[in-house]
Amino acid sequence: MDSESFAPRDERPAGRWMGVLILFILAAGVGSFVYAAHYWWLPPLASTLGITDDMFNAILVATGIAFIAVHLFVAIALIRFAAYGRRPAAHWHEHLGAELTWTLVPAAGLVILAILAEIVWARVYSPPPANAQLVEVTGRQFLWYIRYPSPDGRLAATDPKFISAGNPIGLDPSDPDSKTNAVLENDLHVVNNRPVRIAIRSLDVIHSFFLPNFRVKQDAVPGRTIVIWFVPNRPGQYQIACAQLCGVGHYTMRGNITVEPDQAAFDAWLAKQGQH
Ligand code: CUA
Repeated sequence: MDSESFAPRDERPAGRWMGVLILFILAAGVGSFVYAAHYWWLPPLASTLGITDDMFNAILVATGIAFIAVHLFVAIALIRFAAYGRRPAAHWHEHLGAELTWTLVPAAGLVILAILAEIVWARVYSPPPANAQLVEVTGRQFLWYIRYPSPDGRLAATDPKFISAGNPIGLDPSDPDSKTNAVLENDLHVVNNRPVRIAIRSLDVIHSFFLPNFRVKQDAVPGRTIVIWFVPNRPGQYQIACAQLCGVGHYTMRGNITVEPDQAAFDAWLAKQGQH
């Protein structure tokens, strides 16, 4: 039998081109990131939750380094191996140090990111300060009901059985505060530098209460009241979005959040809203 037919096929040219292709993918990936980040990046920060931006950046840098390192390594390995002639590839036991390095370094990076993420989570979901302003936000297809407490600081009891056209979130008419709670649509006002505690609910499906400038995003889940808090620190008007696909009108489910410069401006604004 002809021994030539058992010789391995020469895959060196294919390997070399594969290495070049991976270098191209690396350049395209880094290039498109640099280009896109120049035009689209995080909206201006308007709260004290900049710690989430720090976490975002830490993950971006860690994964960016890994992306570049892995692509470079694979491309160099392919191109160099193609230049080696028919010498067989090295096996793991010949490069135990390299094997340990590329296993343990990413593992350590992941552990560090996980610890940082726990620290951020614990801060974001910590108990709200005692002086926090209370607001309730209730999602419904496809708007946000914003409820402000009565001057006594209370939110009236609610029950779905009281829901009607004139009472969209079902305030209990036997509760005296139901006369003095203010229920608005898509209009959230908060006070500059005063913590705000938001109780988030939903009347129908899962929505997601998203304040891009404040780095706040929390699902609104039917049957649950989920509390988040933050400190707005940049007066102005910003957008509320729904970040959970919740039906055909999902894209219309947005509102405004206004950061009033001080408590007096907020009180004056609230007094002007008809009591519902
Ligand atoms: Cu509500 Cu999407």
